[in-house]
Amino acid sequence: MSAEKLKTIKRELTRFMMSYKFALEEMNTKINILKQEFQYIHDYSPIEHVSSRLKSPESIMKKMHRKNYVFSLEEIRRNMKDIAGIRITCSFLSDIYQISDMIQNQKDIHIVECKDYIKNPKQNGYQSLHLLAEIPVFMSDRQENVMVEVQIRTIAMDFWASLEHKIYYKYNQAIPEHLTDELREAALSAAELDRKMERLHNEITDLKKNGEEQNPLEEQMLLPLELLAKLRQTRV
Ligand code: GTP
Ligand code: MG
Repeated sequence: MSAEKLKTIKRELTRFMMSYKFALEEMNTKINILKQEFQYIHDYSPIEHVSSRLKSPESIMKKMHRKNYVFSLEEIRRNMKDIAGIRITCSFLSDIYQISDMIQNQKDIHIVECKDYIKNPKQNGYQSLHLLAEIPVFMSDRQENVMVEVQIRTIAMDFWASLEHKIYYKYNQAIPEHLTDELREAALSAAELDRKMERLHNEITDLKKNGEEQNPLEEQMLLPLELLAKLRQTRV
């Protein structure tokens, strides 16, 4: 292969990877906006943390090889939906669907697929909400619609998935049945914990609301005003 040809391939590959990097940055900005605005309006953040990763060219090649795909940039773009990945860890179950709706309602985002592994957990117990979202990236001479995989989950789901991955990673043999059973049970416990925390969260939110209705703002302001008046009196 000529040096010129190699140079062209390298250039194309870099541009290809850059489009995914930009898409991740765009999506990260969108999520950051939702996080900050939600915090301002509702006085709490539904997002615990966000992480993103770009699949390395080595991992892309390995997966293409494993799945027996023809090797070209178009084929990679068509078949690999998780080159750009974002994981949003939420506080409560309901936050997952709220965040998902907020993402889905953005006009420039096109949702290609939504997999709800919370309503329908995987056989091993895995839970999360997965969105495949296409997002436009505007570059100097072209616009590209780039695929980003968005995984939305609670802290409990993330805890389970991280440890499950650690336990099985690079273990290529058949896993004894009692282990898979126990892991599925652990996922059920995590889901139970999520439901309990959601219930507590809702109860406290209701209590707070009732408290505010019974004790309107003017009344709440009375106490500090009286205190101020008393302070002034004592000083005189
Ligand atoms: P991949 O070919 O692995 O991307 O799977 P897929 O195309 O069927 O997509 P799916 O939405 O099922 O899973 C995509 C991603 O979700 C994976 O790359 C993992 O990050 C995560 N995931 C899916 N299943 C599991 C699981 O059983 N355990 C853990 N820890 N993560 C999972
Ligand atoms: Mg994947």
